[in-house]
Amino acid sequence: MSTDEEYAELQRLKAEIHYHVYRYHVLDAPVISDLEYDRMVERLKQIEAAHPEWVTPDSPSQRVGGAVSERFAKVRHPAPILSLGNAFGVDELLAWVERTARLDERVRSADFVVEPKIDGLTVVLTYRDGVFVQGATRGDGEVGEDITSNLRTLKALPLRLPVDPHGPKPPATLVVRGEAFMFIAEFEKLNRRLQEAGERTYLNPRNTAAGSLRQLDPGLTASRPLTLYTYAIVAADGPTPQKQWDLLQYLKALGLPVAPESQYCPGLQEVLEAVEAWRAKRDRLPYEADGIVIKLNDLRLAEELGFVGKDPRGALAFKFPAREVTTRLLDIGVNVGRTGVLTPYAILEPVEIGGVIVKQATLHNFDYIAEKDIRIGDRVLVKRAGEVIPYVIGPVVDARTGDEKPYVPPQTCPACGQSVEHLEGEVAWYCVNLACPAQLVRNLEHFVSRGTMDIVGLGIKIVEQLVEAGLVKSPADLYSLSKDDLLKLEGFAEKKAENLLQAIAASRERPLARLISALGIHGVGEVMAADLARAFTDLDALASARLEDLMMIEGVGPNTAQSIVDWFARPGNREFLARLKAAGVWPVSEQKQAAAQGSQPLAGLTFVVTGTLASFSREGVKEYIQARGGKVTDSVSKKTDYLVAGEAAGSKLDKARQLGVPVLDEAGLLKLAGE
Ligand code: IVH
Repeated sequence: MSTDEEYAELQRLKAEIHYHVYRYHVLDAPVISDLEYDRMVERLKQIEAAHPEWVTPDSPSQRVGGAVSERFAKVRHPAPILSLGNAFGVDELLAWVERTARLDERVRSADFVVEPKIDGLTVVLTYRDGVFVQGATRGDGEVGEDITSNLRTLKALPLRLPVDPHGPKPPATLVVRGEAFMFIAEFEKLNRRLQEAGERTYLNPRNTAAGSLRQLDPGLTASRPLTLYTYAIVAADGPTPQKQWDLLQYLKALGLPVAPESQYCPGLQEVLEAVEAWRAKRDRLPYEADGIVIKLNDLRLAEELGFVGKDPRGALAFKFPAREVTTRLLDIGVNVGRTGVLTPYAILEPVEIGGVIVKQATLHNFDYIAEKDIRIGDRVLVKRAGEVIPYVIGPVVDARTGDEKPYVPPQTCPACGQSVEHLEGEVAWYCVNLACPAQLVRNLEHFVSRGTMDIVGLGIKIVEQLVEAGLVKSPADLYSLSKDDLLKLEGFAEKKAENLLQAIAASRERPLARLISALGIHGVGEVMAADLARAFTDLDALASARLEDLMMIEGVGPNTAQSIVDWFARPGNREFLARLKAAGVWPVSEQKQAAAQGSQPLAGLTFVVTGTLASFSREGVKEYIQARGGKVTDSVSKKTDYLVAGEAAGSKLDKARQLGVPVLDEAGLLKLAGE
C-alpha cells in the first residue's frame, strides 16, 4: 500500500470511527457490532504506529491513555461559570416569575425550556476550528482545572465538530458548558465489578464521576463509564442561537449530546405541568437528578435581566425534596456474594423515603463501617436517590445515648461457618470455602467449565438442579453420582444420564494444571495453574509446598503464595482433596513427567495462540505447549517469544507483526517441539 493510500485510509477510518462513536454514545443507535468497531480502531492504531507524525489530537486513538499529569493546570474561563438560584416548591417558582416580571413585563408572556438538573460535575469544553482542545472543571467559576486528557476518554464527547459532515459549522472558537455524569445502571455495574475484584466500591454516581474526572491518570478515567450532556454556550466568536430551545437543537446538530428529556414550554402553565410530571418520573430517570432547571427561552431577555449575586435571573433550579432521612440502625447483616465476598448491609427501622419504605441499605464494606464509626443502635442518615440502592451516609453522632455498640466484622462466613480471609491490599473479606452453600453453584460452574475440568453437557441449569436436589454438596460429589440419581432430575432420560456420567468420568483424565485451576484458589488463574503444575508432581506436592517454595516460582507473589498455602491448610479443602483422590481424580504433572524424561523442548518460552489450528483445539494446543515446558498467555507483548497463528488470525497477528514477535504455523510449532 502506498503512503498516499495509507493516509487516505487513515482519514476514512477517523471519520467512520467518529461517526460510529456518535451513533453509539449519543444517538444510542449503533449500526455496527462492537467487534467491527474494535477492528477499525485496531487498524487505525496500526497506521498511526507506523506514522506517528499523522497522529492528531482529534484522532479517536487519543481517547485512552495519555500522559499522567503531575497536577492539573489552571484554566481561566472566557466568561464566569455561574450557578443558579434555587426554588424548593411551586410557591418559590411563582415568586421567581413574579420578581423577574416586575423587572421586565415580557416575562409574563414568556416561553421556557425545562431541563433535568443532572447531579454530575460541570465541565467547560473548548473547541477551536471544530477540534476539542480543552476541557476544564468549573473550579471557583472564574478559574477551573485543566482535565482535557481525562475528558478525551469520554466517548460521548466529540473530538471534532460537527460530527456529521452535513451538520452546521461551528464558530472558530466555541466554548460549551455541560455536565459529566454516570448513568445509574453503569454505576452499579462498575460497583459490582469492583466488589468482585475485592476493591473499594463507590458511594454514588456523582462522587464517582467527580472522582474519576479528577484522576491524575487518564487511563483510570477511561475505565470509568462516564458520559456527558451539554446545555449552554459560554463563549463563541460567531453567531449562535438566541433561544435556549434552538440552542439545544444546535448543540445536538453539532454532535454534542443533550438530555433527551429536555422540554419546550410555551408558557408558565406548561412549566407548572412539567414540574408535576418530573416529580412523578424522578425515580425512573436513568441518571441522578436533584431537580430541574427552568430557563427563559429568550436568551437575550435572560441576559438583559442580569444577576443577583452570581445567579442569573433568567433561570432557576427547581429542587426536588432531598431523599435523606434518619432512622435507627437495628443491626448489620452480611451477605455472601457469588465470589465469596462478604458484604455488610444495614437492617433499619423501616422508614419512608420519597414514597418508598426502606428497611435495608448498603454499608459498602467493613472498612466503610469502621471509617464512619457506624455503631449498632446509632441513628443513621440514609439516602435514596433515583434508582440507586439506598445507602447509609453515616451516624448522627449527636443523637448517641451511649447504648450503641461498635460493630465487629464476622470472623466466620455467615453461610457456612468457616473462617473468612482478607487479602493484602484489598478491602474485601472472602469466604474461601469451596463447599460454602452460598457459593456452591458458582464454584461448581467454575469446576466443570471448559477451561478447567471441561465436563461437557454440565451447564449452569444442571448444576443448579444437582445442588437443589441435594445430590451435590461439593465438586467431589460429582464423581459419586449414579444413573439413578440423575434420573430423578427433571429432563433426564437414560441417554442423557449416561452421557453426563461418561463426561464426568472422562474429566478424571484432565491434566494437573486444569485441576489446579478448577480449585478456584484466589489469585490462581489458568496461566499460574500451568506454572504450578510444572513445578509440582501432584496436588499432594503442591499441598505441602511452603511459602518460600511457592515464591520461587515465576509470577507467584507473596499474596498469591499465602492464598495457596491458606487454601491447602483449611480442613474443609483437605477433606475435599482426599475425596477427589479416592474418586481417582488425581492427575500427575505431565510437565513433571516429561521433565523427568528430559524432554522439555519449549521450556522458558512464552507463547500466544490465535486463530483456528487444523489438528488442535484451543485447549489442546495449550496443553501440548505446557506439557513441553512452554508457557501460554493471552495477549501479545514484547515478552512473547512466539505467536502460534492458525486460520483467521486477527488483531493478535497484527500486534505480533508490529512488535516483531516471530509467528509460527502449526508445522512450525511441531518442529520447534522437536517432532
Ligand atoms: S444551567 C447560567 N442547566 O446545576 C447557567 N445547570 O447551579 C447555569 N446543572 O452546577 C447552569 N444540569 O452544572 C444548567 N441543564 C442544566 C443543568 C445544570 C445540571 C448544574 C450546573 C450547576 C448547577 C446549577
